[in-house]
Amino acid sequence: MTDLKEHLGKLVTIERFILDQQTHYPDATGTLTNILYDMALAAKIIASKTTQAGLAGILGSAGEENVQGEEVQKLDAFAQRTIYRLNDHTGRLAVMASEEVEDVIPIPDRFQVGKYVLVFDPLDGSSNIDFNVGVGTIFAIYRRKTGDGPGTLEDVLQPGRDLVAAGYIVYGSSTMMVYSTGHGVHGFTLDPAIGEFLLSHPDISYPAKPKYYSVNQGYEPYWTPGIQAYTKWLQSDTPEKKGLSLRYIGSLVADFHRNLLAGGVFYYPADRKDPKKPGGKLRLLYEAAPLGFLAKHAGGYASDGTGAILDIEPTRLHQRVPLFVGNRVLVEKAESLIREHDQPPVGA
Ligand code: AHG
Ligand code: MN
Ligand code: MN
Repeated sequence: MTDLKEHLGKLVTIERFILDQQTHYPDATGTLTNILYDMALAAKIIASKTTQAGLAGILGSAGEENVQGEEVQKLDAFAQRTIYRLNDHTGRLAVMASEEVEDVIPIPDRFQVGKYVLVFDPLDGSSNIDFNVGVGTIFAIYRRKTGDGPGTLEDVLQPGRDLVAAGYIVYGSSTMMVYSTGHGVHGFTLDPAIGEFLLSHPDISYPAKPKYYSVNQGYEPYWTPGIQAYTKWLQSDTPEKKGLSLRYIGSLVADFHRNLLAGGVFYYPADRKDPKKPGGKLRLLYEAAPLGFLAKHAGGYASDGTGAILDIEPTRLHQRVPLFVGNRVLVEKAESLIREHDQPPVGA
């Protein structure tokens, strides 16, 4: 029989791990730690609904459009409410922002405001909900920039390089939460029997030998010559790698997560088919920047095809951006082929 003490010694709950990580920050007050706990709790609540979605009559659309003009799925609305309600009254946040809400989300007057900013995509990959395919949540935490009083848009429009923490939850065959505060990227798997996230993937980094490339190849006819050349390069054996296999789920979190563990690159280039989104589909603040932060701390890199995602100064809350993210060598190759094929030479 396994010795109980030895057995428990190996079980690291997310609470214990986050608290231990606080020792990296001697001046920490515990506020960030508590926001991360709240996100873990939100994850459990949302996971309990995603697994029951078919049973609870929650499948399908809520019959409204969100600020991007996309249909809001019922689970999007549920995830939005869950994250908002767990964070509106804690006194830890100055302001929030979400994919599902047009303007910044203020903290109600009756509650205290705090020093952090929470930005999130409550449910990512929602077009997959009805088909039992993995979906996710993405979150990003900044320190507020303004002094005091209610947080403002200025607090939200910060470049990814100033992130304090970021993470995602993937609701797949099991639920996992992956986050970083800048000291490694760590993954936790929800044990449904005890309702706890347990450390399952400490210190994640991209494997040196990548396996996959992930792109919606259905849009190939609309790609620029640079993206076409890049895709050919990914498919072939080169000095850097063997030819990669294609995997594309259509849930950014799930695609990113697989490539983080197996090695590879996800890209969603600027879309030339739809003039409404010439700058790509994915959103800088609550999709590209947080995943770019995680990629960086796992030894990878995120680019918009011309430079680092983390260096982009946002100008709008729901701004879209082309995204290339994964093993550094793969993302840098996208930059060089785009430079070679798609950009006019300097002075032209
Ligand atoms: P969301 O569900 O939060 O609106 O995000 C959808 C995104 C992302 O998850 C995914 O990578 C991408 O849309 C898929 O787009 P295509 O269907 O155009 O490939
Ligand atoms: Mn999304
Ligand atoms: Mn979403």
